[in-house]
Amino acid sequence: MLKKRKLKIGIVGCGAIGSSLAKEIAVNFRGSAVLSALYDIRAEKAQSLSRSLLKNTKLSVGSLDILIKKSGLVIEASAAAAAWEITRKAVSARRKVMVMSVGGMVGHLDELFRQASRNNTQVYFPSGAISGIDALKAADIAGVKKVLLTTRKHPFAFSGVEYVEKKFKLSGLKKDKVLFSGSASKAIKYFPQNINVAAILGLAGIGMYKTKVRIIASPAVTKNIHEILIESKAAKIFTRTENILHPQNPKTSFLAVLSAIATLKQILQPVKIGT
Ligand SMILES: NC(=O)c1ccc[n+]([C@@H]2O[C@H](COP(=O)([O-])OP(=O)(O)OC[C@H]3O[C@@H](n4cnc5c(N)ncnc54)[C@H](O)[C@@H]3O)[C@@H](O)[C@H]2O)c1
Repeated sequence: MLKKRKLKIGIVGCGAIGSSLAKEIAVNFRGSAVLSALYDIRAEKAQSLSRSLLKNTKLSVGSLDILIKKSGLVIEASAAAAAWEITRKAVSARRKVMVMSVGGMVGHLDELFRQASRNNTQVYFPSGAISGIDALKAADIAGVKKVLLTTRKHPFAFSGVEYVEKKFKLSGLKKDKVLFSGSASKAIKYFPQNINVAAILGLAGIGMYKTKVRIIASPAVTKNIHEILIESKAAKIFTRTENILHPQNPKTSFLAVLSAIATLKQILQPVKIGT
């Protein structure tokens, strides 16, 4: 029988998502993949993750360039501001890339498609904290008229959001308050917390301008709730996802991390399930 080569995976960003993925790769994917490198702008985070995974081997590296050299798949799990530069470098080196900071790619998408095609490689964007991307992709082939995302979060979740703090007073809020209604493109600009959900939805369907977003502060909710309405020639689709927050980073939904793990599974498995 042919022995399969393990996919070498490097992780950029060793926070909530990067750490969870690293642990998953080291334990549950060890038959088909191997961690080749970890890199974080805060070197101590990569070092401590490396120590927690492997007692005797050092995985952390001092530069992004070395990580790219050592890896067949680069997972970006760092920050929106860094995502394009990391992806551009990895794609130019003909590496596969999984991008978590989707919002950071808006504005670079045409270039991304060009570069990935020129270098004959693949770039993966997990669905993240929402459901319905599979149906949206399929429906879009026949034609989608409308995509509307309604996000409800506790007022707490908006503290520190400049756009909200300038326009609203949320302390003591007793009922739902619509904070924003407009294009995904504008939502990405004003709501850094919602950036990935709005961006993946725009990317999978009718684009950042036609995809509409409503953001509501709701004192009655404790989870981050995303509802998506899709009207298309093939079907009318409605999904609702009530997200439990990641224990290490309350800004990140647990499902977003699991979605990255599921994407990795798709990459590694010979049989792919779902759209
Ligand atoms: N696609 C999705 O559904 C989804 C969901 C949640 C979060 N995200 C995004 O994924 C990214 C990671 O999320 P997280 O919860 O793990 O965040 P986190 O803050 O827990 O970890 C991010 C890590 O990246 C490091 N970092 C920052 N800039 C870097 C750079 N230029 N180079 C290398 N390392 C850098 C930080 O030091 C930190 O350790 C964020 O951009 C976040 O917005 C995506």
